[in-house]
This record gives sequence, C-alpha cells and structure tokens, in this order.
Amino acid sequence: MTIYTIYNDKELIVRPATRSDADEILQLLNTVGGESDNLTYGSEELGFTASQEEEIIEQHNKSCNSLFIVAQYMGKIIGILNFSGGNRGRIAHCGMFGMSVLKDYWGIGVGTCLVDFMLDWAVETDIIKKIELQVRVDNTRAIQLYKKMGFVVEGRLRKSIKIDGEYFDTLYMGKAIE
Ligand SMILES: CC(C)(COP(=O)(O)OP(=O)(O)OC[C@H]1O[C@@H](n2cnc3c(N)ncnc32)[C@H](O)[C@@H]1OP(=O)(O)O)[C@@H](O)C(=O)NCCC(=O)NCCS
Repeated sequence: MTIYTIYNDKELIVRPATRSDADEILQLLNTVGGESDNLTYGSEELGFTASQEEEIIEQHNKSCNSLFIVAQYMGKIIGILNFSGGNRGRIAHCGMFGMSVLKDYWGIGVGTCLVDFMLDWAVETDIIKKIELQVRVDNTRAIQLYKKMGFVVEGRLRKSIKIDGEYFDTLYMGKAIE
C-alpha cells in the first residue's frame, strides 16, 4: 500500500485489490464505461458478474507478473488499474495495462498515482521489463498522462475500435523498465 498526497493535501491510498472490492470495482467500471468513450465497452456493457470479477482479482493477485490495484479516496474506490503479464516464458517480461478513474475525480492526479505505483511494482518484480498499452488516438488526457510517465508511441493501429458505428485508430505505447 502507498499513501499519496493529492490536491488539497488529501490522502489517496493505492493498494492491491482484494476479492471484497469486486462489487465496488464493477460499479466503477460500469460507471466509467458510461462516462467515457475511451474504453472497449460502454455503460453496463462490461458483462462480468461479481464472482467473475472476484476471480479476475484473485488471478492477478496469484500471478507474480500481474497487478490489480485500486485508488481509494476517503474510503471510496475512485480508480483502478490492472496489468497482465504474458503467460509464457518468452513473453512473461512484458504486459499490457488498462485504467479507469471516476469522472468526478479526473485531473487531480489519481491516474498519475496509479501509474506511479505500477512502475514501482514493475521494478520490484525484477521480471517485468516492458509495459505496453493501447489508447484511442484522441484520448488526449490519457496520452498526456502516459507521456508524462515516460511512455512513448510505438505505433498506430488503424480502425482498431468501433463506437456507435464509427471507427477510431489507437496508439500503441510502451515503456521499458530498467
Ligand atoms: C485517462 C484517465 C485514467 C486519467 O486519469 P486522471 O486521474 O484524470 O489523470 P491525472 O489527473 O493524473 O493526469 C491527467 C493529465 O492530463 C492532463 N489533462 C487534463 N485534461 C486534459 C485535456 N483535456 N487534454 C490534455 N491533457 C489534459 C492533466 O493536466 C494531467 O497532466 P499533468 O499532470 O501533466 O497536468 C481518466 O481520465 C479516465 O479514467 N478516463 C476514462 C477511461 C480512460 O480513458 N482510460 C484510459 C484508457 S487508455
């Protein structure tokens, strides 16, 4: 667990998710799905039950090259990040992550704290040597955050996401872990 200080000197706790967080995490994911068109699902389109979400959390926690973390502000989970490392020897050093923060809390550094925690964890694992992500090309807020944290654009995938009948390109970004 790490305690960060964000705006107004308030404490933000970033910690690994536990099975008992599953309901709150599902609520958050479904809410952000409706608040943002930058995810691979819309409102209530996630399609996981609480027990499936518990299983996902458990799988991440059991794996030495995966991470599932929550950002908790005044007792409430307001952001999540999950990273999955490769499941075979040749790709175990590499993985992708996704993250979501409730819209009411955008722009106050929550996403930065989540990525910071993941980067520290990655160094500590001594397994993870590369972190990758995919982001919609017009998601300027997320791209700004990733660039600030040292990620660089490695490529552009054409028409890789379709929302309400419209296709969007995504950027592939990566960061080496030293
Ligand atoms: C992307 C997301 C995780 C960012 O989280 P956040 O808590 O708002 O991030 P932070 O506050 O730590 O940082 C956001 C950065 O974007 C900047 N920013 C804010 N609004 C912006 C805008 N309209 N255009 C460009 N940059 C912007 C902020 O200034 C900040 O950068 P700075 O620290 O250099 O000032 C959050 O907006 C989110 O969950 N969005 C919906 C889901 C999503 O897009 N997930 C990522 C999919 S790849």
